[in-house]
Amino acid sequence: MDSLSLSLILCLVLLTPLPSSARQTLNQGSSLSAENPDDVIVSPEGTFTAGFYPLGTNAYAFAIWFSQPTCFLGHNCTLVWMANRDHPVNGRRSKLLLENTGDLVLTDAAQFNVWTTGTATESKLTTYLQLAESGNLFLRDSEGTILWQSFDSPTDTLLPQQPLSRLTQLVSSRGKGNYSSGFYRFFFDYDNVLRILFDGHETSSDYWPYPWLSSWDADRSTYNSSRLAMINLFGNFSSSDNLNFRSADYGRSRIQRRLSLDYDGNLRMYSRERNETWVVSWQAISQPCRIHGICGENSLCSYAPNTGRICSCLEGYKQRDPSDWSYGCEPEFNVLPDSTDFTFIHLRHVEFFGDDFRLFSNKTIKECEAECLQRVNCKGFQHNFRNHNGFQFHDCYPKAQLRNGQQTSSFDGDFYVKVPKSYNTSDKKTEHLQRTLDCPQNNTILLKRSYVKSQENEIVKFMLWFACALGGLEFISIFLVWLFFYRASHDKNASRDGYVFAATGFKRFTFDELKKATRNFHEEIGRGGGGTVYKGTLSDGRVIAVKRLNDSNQGEAEFLAEVNTIGKLNHMNLIEMWGFCADKKNRLLVYEYMEHGSLADMLSSASNELDWQKKYDIALGTARGLAYLHDECLEWELHCDVKPQNILLDTAYNPKVSDFGLSKLLDRGKLYNSSFSKIRGTRGYMAPEWVLNQPITSKVDVYSYGIVVLEMVTGQSSIRGIQLVDRADEEPMSKSNHEKQKMEVLVRVALDCVQEDRDARPTMTQVVERLLDSSQ
Ligand SMILES: *[C@@H]1O[C@H](CO)[C@@H](O)[C@H](O)[C@H]1NC(C)=O
Ligand SMILES: *[C@@H]1O[C@H](CO)[C@@H](O)[C@H](O)[C@H]1NC(C)=O
Ligand SMILES: *[C@@H]1O[C@H](CO)[C@@H](O)[C@H](O)[C@H]1NC(C)=O
Ligand SMILES: *[C@@H]1O[C@H](CO)[C@@H](O)[C@H](O)[C@H]1NC(C)=O
Ligand SMILES: *[C@@H]1O[C@H](CO)[C@@H](O)[C@H](O)[C@H]1NC(C)=O
Ligand SMILES: *[C@@H]1O[C@H](CO)[C@@H](O)[C@H](O)[C@H]1NC(C)=O
Ligand SMILES: *[C@@H]1O[C@H](CO)[C@@H](O)[C@H](O)[C@H]1NC(C)=O
Ligand SMILES: *[C@@H]1O[C@H](CO)[C@@H](O)[C@H](O)[C@H]1NC(C)=O
Repeated sequence: MDSLSLSLILCLVLLTPLPSSARQTLNQGSSLSAENPDDVIVSPEGTFTAGFYPLGTNAYAFAIWFSQPTCFLGHNCTLVWMANRDHPVNGRRSKLLLENTGDLVLTDAAQFNVWTTGTATESKLTTYLQLAESGNLFLRDSEGTILWQSFDSPTDTLLPQQPLSRLTQLVSSRGKGNYSSGFYRFFFDYDNVLRILFDGHETSSDYWPYPWLSSWDADRSTYNSSRLAMINLFGNFSSSDNLNFRSADYGRSRIQRRLSLDYDGNLRMYSRERNETWVVSWQAISQPCRIHGICGENSLCSYAPNTGRICSCLEGYKQRDPSDWSYGCEPEFNVLPDSTDFTFIHLRHVEFFGDDFRLFSNKTIKECEAECLQRVNCKGFQHNFRNHNGFQFHDCYPKAQLRNGQQTSSFDGDFYVKVPKSYNTSDKKTEHLQRTLDCPQNNTILLKRSYVKSQENEIVKFMLWFACALGGLEFISIFLVWLFFYRASHDKNASRDGYVFAATGFKRFTFDELKKATRNFHEEIGRGGGGTVYKGTLSDGRVIAVKRLNDSNQGEAEFLAEVNTIGKLNHMNLIEMWGFCADKKNRLLVYEYMEHGSLADMLSSASNELDWQKKYDIALGTARGLAYLHDECLEWELHCDVKPQNILLDTAYNPKVSDFGLSKLLDRGKLYNSSFSKIRGTRGYMAPEWVLNQPITSKVDVYSYGIVVLEMVTGQSSIRGIQLVDRADEEPMSKSNHEKQKMEVLVRVALDCVQEDRDARPTMTQVVERLLDSSQ
């Protein structure tokens, strides 16, 4: 053995940390180092890990994250807690040390203490740090007393069994990939009611429950001052203010769940099967623009599923900080005190919340303008029509500030922005800024601290590095040869899949891949909805359903945009799209494969596998999926072809709505005209609006849903249409009392859904609520 190899070995022995099998306990006097990724504490069954988590280049936080399924640090791990979210530490020589005094201290580069539990005591009891299977990191002494626990200081996430109390709150993070404290807080207010508050640069206001509702109207109680809330292991959230809700997968305990106050100001419950991805199983706010502060002042928020939420400045205003919408927009004009002449810019369907001087009832636009002009600080006014006891009049709200602005077609009111007459809007229009909120963040954190150079024994260090350098030379040459061969064999595929969505697993496939997966489109499992569906198997063993679209006139860019939208819709009762293919003229969609086929197959099969409970659950799940489509997407995303063939069942008979969004892929453009120019849907399930040429709203899906439920209840196909509706009342009710009740509820809901007057039909959300109320 030559001397080079010897020095290499010496080097490896000295510099490589011993392979530590992941520990479960940190004892008094020991520490975890940010330099060693294996220096972590894991929970007994490995669900959670606590350790140093990379936030960016050379910046770390001591954090707890889900470690099952396996994830990559800094990429796709889900963090649940952080000690130092606002003070990241250096990657070199930073440590978490359990001192002999019992204090747990996080030091940055061995120089600054950035965080401590403050648990130092005089007592002689030894202490140790452990991570419970619930995700709670706790410091305990040898008598078993808990001195400190992470459950008492949540960041933005609440785990099952973790109480939210009068002393704790959730604080959102600042943005995508930026974990420092953001603007939103979820907490018990002084009146004992749980609220979400926007606490911004200059202003704060709460928006959930909606501020125009009294606590009473929001079903919250102000009387119980214990201020305690918790999610249990089955997905039930209950709070002392009477806020109770359940995750969509309520009842199953072997599922991972978390309640997170996201950086966009929405509170969401997420659920995950052991080896799958997170899905939203409940959320507080279905209309993203209702969240306060999201676009800053003097701006408008609008939402469409394909673009997401968009902020834009009002005319006459420009963005204050182009990288951060929370600062809003500032005027482009100078307002001279008193002497300036003003005019007003009219905006339709625009609403600003709050900051009114006062409400003036029954004012014409001219009168309202006069009110605003009288006030130097008036920025504009809201003018809404109101019908009160048969009297029709307009309300006028002059505004001191323009905050929480949103533009939605469902709001029927006008806004008038005050600008100086000298300001010429017509030549500024093109500068109207529009940018989505979710632009990728630059993950570089600059640690604003100056470090003192360490005084270690420089000579020992020099010798060590010298030895390494010699050995390293030899090692490097071996490595380079290996790398050369490795790259040569891997480069062939690397350039192709530039469109991989690593985080969600949503992927662009090549046509050849799908041809191979389906064995040249060999096994057909369905037809309709603009294409043919084939069964296939991916190279990683996942079974897929591939839909090959017939009509492939759509341009690639449009197709990608639509597919991207559909791919983002994520709900346990919507079929999951795993990817797509756009290759020359070929357009294919790749879905998860559903074991039990469609509801239609199930209803027509003789084996009668669906008992009442299953039918009820299918009706409920389908309603949930559709409600999510309607709410989340604000009516942009109608299904328009709800029928048993499009309701698929997984192994546990959970329904998943399929074929949503497809209408857009097939005849885009027509959809965006104010009314549909072409009748879509399937005979027997179509609402009267189609025939009567009335506006098409989400209520057409409600109608079709009603027919599907009637079909499930009566076991009759819908082709007979109205007869089915008539028959439902007289359907004989055998079975037990309990089943009878459930069936009655189903029939009643379904009959309401198929009313001819679309305004009399409930919304899908109301359907879900009614079915849930009766499901206990
Ligand atoms: C993280 O990404 C890796 C590779 O893409 C994947 O194997 C793993 O399952 C992902 N983990 C999670 C939790 O998403
Ligand atoms: C779920 O919450 C509701 C409302 O507090 C409560 O009545 C019910 O008993 C809870 N269920 C379980 C299983 O805890
Ligand atoms: C107040 O809320 C707590 C926690 O939810 C509950 O245990 C208690 O029974 C409630 N008290 C009253 C008077 O309702
Ligand atoms: C999840 O894991 C189980 C067992 O570990 C396996 O049988 C199942 O196929 C996996 N499911 C997915 C979607 O990977
Ligand atoms: C509204 O104002 C008009 C005149 O300004 C008046 O004639 C009318 O009675 C008012 N309506 C109500 C409901 O007060
Ligand atoms: C505003 O600008 C347009 C085009 O730049 C011009 O035609 C118009 O006369 C201007 N109006 C005023 C009031 O200056
Ligand atoms: C990220 O920020 C760093 C430092 O400000 C800069 O050098 C780098 O170019 C940025 N990267 C991107 C992709 O913007
Ligand atoms: C996160 O946001 C804070 C507050 O705006 C900012 O100071 C910090 O630089 C951001 N960090 C990253 C990584 O963008």
